[in-house]
Formats: sequence, C-alpha cells, structure tokens
Amino acid sequence: MENTELQTQLLPVDSRTPDPAIIAQAGQILKDGGLVAFPTETVYGLGGDALNPDSSRKIYAAKGRPSDNPLIVHIAEMEALKPICAQIPETMRRLAEAFWPGPLTMIVPKSDLVPKETTGGLDTVAIRMPDHETALALIRAAGGYIAAPSANASGRPSPTLASHVMEDLQGRIEMILDGGEVGIGVESTIVDLTGEVPTILRPGYVTEEMLRRVLGEVQTDPTLMQKVEGGRPKAPGMRYRHYAPKGTLSLVEGDAAVVTERINALIAEAASEGKKTGVLCTEETLAEYHADVVRSLGSRADMRSIALHLYRALREFDTEGVEMIYAESFSRDGFGQAVMNRLLKAAGYTIIQA
Ligand code: TXA
Ligand code: MG
Repeated sequence: MENTELQTQLLPVDSRTPDPAIIAQAGQILKDGGLVAFPTETVYGLGGDALNPDSSRKIYAAKGRPSDNPLIVHIAEMEALKPICAQIPETMRRLAEAFWPGPLTMIVPKSDLVPKETTGGLDTVAIRMPDHETALALIRAAGGYIAAPSANASGRPSPTLASHVMEDLQGRIEMILDGGEVGIGVESTIVDLTGEVPTILRPGYVTEEMLRRVLGEVQTDPTLMQKVEGGRPKAPGMRYRHYAPKGTLSLVEGDAAVVTERINALIAEAASEGKKTGVLCTEETLAEYHADVVRSLGSRADMRSIALHLYRALREFDTEGVEMIYAESFSRDGFGQAVMNRLLKAAGYTIIQA
C-alpha cells in the first residue's frame, strides 16, 4: 500500500458542455498514468489509461479491488474498436448501432494491445461507449481508451454523485470531475458475445427484451437472479458481495399491504433487540413505516426513479449506522430485472415472503 496521500482535486463541470481546459488537464493526468473519476450516464467511473498496465494496477489499488476482476474499456468512437478487438463479431456491430453511445457493455476477444492487467488476466475485453458528453470528451483527451470500473471502494455501492466518490477515494486519486447526479443510477448491462448465444452477465438499463429485438436469441446468466447451488456468475465482479450496505438487508416480497405490515413487524422485533432499523420503500408507502431511518426511492410506477436512488439510499443507511434494513421488492420485468438483481445481491439473496 502506498503511504503517500494524494491531494484529490474536485472540479465541477457542466456535464453537457465541460470546460475544455479542465478536460485537457484531466486528460493529461490520465496520459501521465494518473487516475481521474468522472461521471457517466450510469454511475461514476474511476478512469485510468486502459492501455497502460501501471494505470490498471493503480485502479485496483485505489479501489482495494481484487486484481482478477476485469475492468471495462471505455471508447468514444467506433473506429477505436478495431485496435483492441481480436475480432469484431457481427452481433457487436448490430448492438453498437442500436445502443451506443449508451449503457451497454460488450465482451469480445481482445487484441494484444490491451494489457492483461486491464482484463484481469482474461483473453476477452469488456467495451463500452458511454452516453455522456463529459465522459466522451475525457476519453478523447486521454488518447481514446479509458479503463473504468465504478468509482466506489470495492464492496460499497456504486457512486451516483461526486460526493460518493470523495467518500471512498479521497487521497487515493488525482482528480474527480463533478458533473452532478448521474442519469441512470445502476451500472451498464453486460453482454458476453464470445459464446454461441449472447449472454447477459449483468442486467442494466438495456433489457433482455431490447437485446432480443436486435439479436433474436439472448440468454441471461442463471446465477444472477437466484442462488444456484455450486453456480458461479460468469462476470468475475458479480461473484463478490457487492452493492451491499454494512447493515443486514432483507428483501420482503408479497402483496403490497401485507408487505408493509410484515416489515413493520420485523422492525418492531429488531428494535426490541436494540438494533437500529431502516426501511427502503416507495412514495406510496413512505408514511406507513416506523423505522429509525425510512428512505423512499420514488414512485413504484417509475422504475427509473427507483434505480436512480437505490445506491444513494444504501449509502445513507451506512452513514446512519443502520443495522437491520428491510426493503420492499419490485417487479423483475424490464428494467426491474437490474434493480432486483442489485437488491438481491445486497441482500445475499435472502427473501422473506410476506
Ligand atoms: O456502467 C458501467 O459499466 C460502469 C461505468 C463506470 O461505465 N462501470 C462498471 O465497471 O460498472 P465495474 O468494473 O464496476 O464492473 C465491470 C464488470 C465486473 O463485474 C467485471 O467482472 C465484468 O464487468 N467484466 C469486465 N470484463 C469482463 C470480461 N472480459 N469477462 C467477464 N466479465 C467482465
Ligand atoms: Mg463496480
């Protein structure tokens, strides 16, 4: 571990039209092998030069992340693909046309240009073109390729605000570009294109249904939505206890009215044991709970709002020192699959049937 603390610069940027002087300064840091956290449409990323093995090593060190967990390479133009891919499958071209720039990451065989440090030792590389002007400008200023995991300390919820990045990485990286709150709030959909059938390794805003409309056949890694005995998620990062608050989180599923009643009973029980309690709920039920900390994610009818506020709420439970957290469940349809995947992981797949 390095014992020299870095002076982390926090610079505000207009996310749509970032100041070119700030982008140039941040790009130079990346070219020199330093680290810059930046906003994307999904979550904040911790950027380093993807083609520089030392930068990737620094990313792992700053996050405290195991170095067998590969990073996503971010690009700003289609022309950037060829140099880093051993081959570009037809499926990749079709998905890029439909969803890039956007919240979709594709896994393909890598070329020798991409160091193994960036891909966690794998022969494949995950690639994404973000839909965010600041991110795109920074990628160009850095020379075209930024490796960026989510800019949280390993094991913590991904950052949706620059203040979350400060909380986790201050003193460990050179710069944070503060472009305000992100737009989506959960990480990109990851699809593996190296097998016979395109396979979703992490659900996100681009749903299975949307991918199927472009590709026909698509499958989802079965370990994502339930505990599979002896099953291991194919994306290394999905194996770690991730997205999880420090307290114990349980998901409660069932009819709305019964769920509220059950959660209140569980809270009463935990409180009687002297535990600090929390509830993760929706606008519709906010007034009905009696926990120490009650957080609404937005209206149940608006899955985008639920997703956007999820990680922030999980972090707030940590700040407040909540020990027992009970969360309402959501539909697993469409974008709900991504939200439920993150909640299930945060809960260690514990579901209480109300
Ligand atoms: O939305 C996002 O994707 C954000 C923003 C910053 O772009 N990035 C992000 O990166 O979520 P990260 O490192 O937190 O998650 C990357 C995931 C991990 O689960 C990792 O294991 C998986 O992608 N991954 C990366 N390369 C892979 C590969 N070659 N094969 C399988 N899984 C891979
Ligand atoms: Mg992450």
